[in-house]
Amino acid sequence: MDKLIIEGGVPLTGTIDVSGSKNAALPILFAAILASRAAILDNVPDLRDIHTTLKLLEMLGCRCDRQGTRIQVAPGELKPEAPYDLVRTMRASVLCLGPLLARIGQARVALPGGCAIGARPVDQHLKGLEQMGARFELEEGYIMGRCRKLKGAHITFDMPTVGGTENLLMAASLADGETVLENVAREPEVVDLANFLTACGARIEGQGTSCIRIQGVTELGGAEYAVMPDRIEAGTFLVAAGITGGELLLRHCPFTDLEAVILKLQSMGMEISVTADGVLAKCGNPLRGTDVTTRPHPGFPTDMQAQIMALMCMAEGASVVEESIFENRFMHVLELMRMGAQIKVSGHTAMVRGTGRLIGAPVMASDLRASASLVLAGLAAKGVTEVRRIYHLDRGYERIENKLNAVGARIRREAE
Ligand code: EPZ
Repeated sequence: MDKLIIEGGVPLTGTIDVSGSKNAALPILFAAILASRAAILDNVPDLRDIHTTLKLLEMLGCRCDRQGTRIQVAPGELKPEAPYDLVRTMRASVLCLGPLLARIGQARVALPGGCAIGARPVDQHLKGLEQMGARFELEEGYIMGRCRKLKGAHITFDMPTVGGTENLLMAASLADGETVLENVAREPEVVDLANFLTACGARIEGQGTSCIRIQGVTELGGAEYAVMPDRIEAGTFLVAAGITGGELLLRHCPFTDLEAVILKLQSMGMEISVTADGVLAKCGNPLRGTDVTTRPHPGFPTDMQAQIMALMCMAEGASVVEESIFENRFMHVLELMRMGAQIKVSGHTAMVRGTGRLIGAPVMASDLRASASLVLAGLAAKGVTEVRRIYHLDRGYERIENKLNAVGARIRREAE
């Protein structure tokens, strides 16, 4: 297991290229199961979750060929089983359920277990697929799904779920007739998936709104498609500019997808503007506290909550963070407190008393975005911070220490 050792206190300056989006690439890779010809995907980030997905796709019978950021997924004879050993390392594996049922009428997918950030059930995925004609049983920890041909249905989600919307969108693309999905997730990654499916020949309307209509088709061809840039990676680098008092230009930064984040960072005193070369972020003023409540898109993303909390610790004055999406996403709080942060958690709310100062310490990463928050805190802290268990970070950030070192950070990776 590796750890990162960060010497803090250096303002970051320079240019960073934002990578392709992990959370868009994952469903799009699973959607390739639906196509009867090869899909060629560009701008796929080099991450542990992507490697896991390719391994799973191969086990399911696809042939995957990777050259840098370009991946070809060719259809083969599909097999229905997604084993527990892979699913437990990556919950997004459950996204093969809809495509397998649509293509071969059966799926045997390990039920994802608990997760560091919350219970994260998949009941909405199953309920929607049942409305389309699938039947499920639980057998030795596996969801066993069967169906004849999936049929279009009118499905209303209890809450906007990103994965649930994506699973149903994929299944409905090859179902008989029309499917209407209501109260769906409006996240840009859902839109990117819908656009990829459309490029393969699917008939989809309404992506990006809370109601999506899909007219099922009998076959999807392949397509060449470039995955959208990663808005959460970009948001993390915006915070890196603010927390170090530096100035960063982000190329390929999806500005409009980050509106809620950018407005909050600006309200804290950061200057963020769009230029011909990318998004320029700097922190000319002293940082001020702010209040944030996480919400489904277009609200403030839960995946940026831990990072903005690190910034709040370096601001002057009080901030309040309310986490409304996941029940246990404050694992970074105690670690930030080891670095001198003053934070009080009460239920789903964290109150941060900004002191404008953090001190390096050994800390432990508990999940992907908590890890990012600790790296950001380490960049701002006086002295040396050791972030342990960074395998979480490698799931979602492409060579983060190389990207940050190229703009002046002092980070090295060591085996623990
Ligand atoms: C996606 O997870 C992302 N993962 C998460 O990114 C992100 O935090 C989350 O959406 C919210 O934006 C990927 O895209 C691979 P949800 P997902 O279904 O799809 C409840 C990261 O750091 N729910 O939108 O699993 C659920 O428990 C990660 O990159 C049900 O109750 O999230 C949660 O409270 C982590 N039943 C809420 O809905 C269901 O059947 C939203 O979850 C499904 C969800």
